[in-house]
Amino acid sequence: MTYITQPAKPIRKAVFPVAGMGSRFLPATKAIAKEMLPIVDKPLIQYAVEEAIAAGITDIIFVTGRTKRSIEDHFDKAYELETELEARGKHELLAIARATSPKGVSFSYTRQSEPLGLGHAVLMAKALVGDEPFAVILPDDFIDPKQGGEGALSEMVRAYQTHAGASVLAVQNVERSQTASYGIVSTTALDDLNETVTGIVEKPKPEVAPSTLAVVGRYILAPEIFGYIEKIKPGAGGELQLTDAIAAMLKDQAVIANRFSGTRYDCGSKLGYLQATVACGLKHPETKEIFQNYLKNVSNN
Ligand code: G1P
Repeated sequence: MTYITQPAKPIRKAVFPVAGMGSRFLPATKAIAKEMLPIVDKPLIQYAVEEAIAAGITDIIFVTGRTKRSIEDHFDKAYELETELEARGKHELLAIARATSPKGVSFSYTRQSEPLGLGHAVLMAKALVGDEPFAVILPDDFIDPKQGGEGALSEMVRAYQTHAGASVLAVQNVERSQTASYGIVSTTALDDLNETVTGIVEKPKPEVAPSTLAVVGRYILAPEIFGYIEKIKPGAGGELQLTDAIAAMLKDQAVIANRFSGTRYDCGSKLGYLQATVACGLKHPETKEIFQNYLKNVSNN
């Protein structure tokens, strides 16, 4: 008998939960979305959207909230600005302004009116996602690709295709003292880059964490996840946790953990944000040399 293996469905949609208040960055986030904070000259959210588009995503879905209008404006056409730049012959700047909303990519917005957790935020996108596998990207987790490498989501899409459409979680090792900040997985060996997830628990204390392999903000999920989110009860922190829905789903279908190759910065924390700024400042064509010299002098003082 010949078996025909169905190719995995393409991943076209990505959900960006961006409703959070960003209280760790007050006062900067009092009137603007934390996702609009720039790393050098580009808002955090734009790095995440560009990573998604590079991975083949064409439908960007923001789960947003009050005070997040700047995100909608950022990905929209800016008529006055474009007209002005055009009239002044500033073509490079015009191209930069236009690049935020590339052709062939659609942007949709839905609101999470109450902060009931990541699982709840993802559930808000159910109608927009429909019955197809999709990505979830948490823009606070900024992943700088390895030099010459591709983005973390592109690597995950490859893992998804190689492993017959399994759900994929991005993981990295963290210090044991840090496990209470993450979803932590237990796994068995699969291949060089991926492991099979056998369990996942949200924010375990170091002494009970099943491993130190932590989920960072990238997921490729089967659409069945919505049904599991609808059934879970509030978990860690009294919130509906995506992790708990994944824990239920992996009893019925394959979930794998992918070790991405880039460097991840926790831009939800001040230190991570500063580290990402330094890394990007050292790469940006306008600043890299002068900034490198500056840092050398700073560290010599
Ligand atoms: C969320 C998830 C957690 C994951 C983390 C990655 O937690 O719930 O499982 O490890 O993102 O950044 P949060 O950081 O929103 O508390």
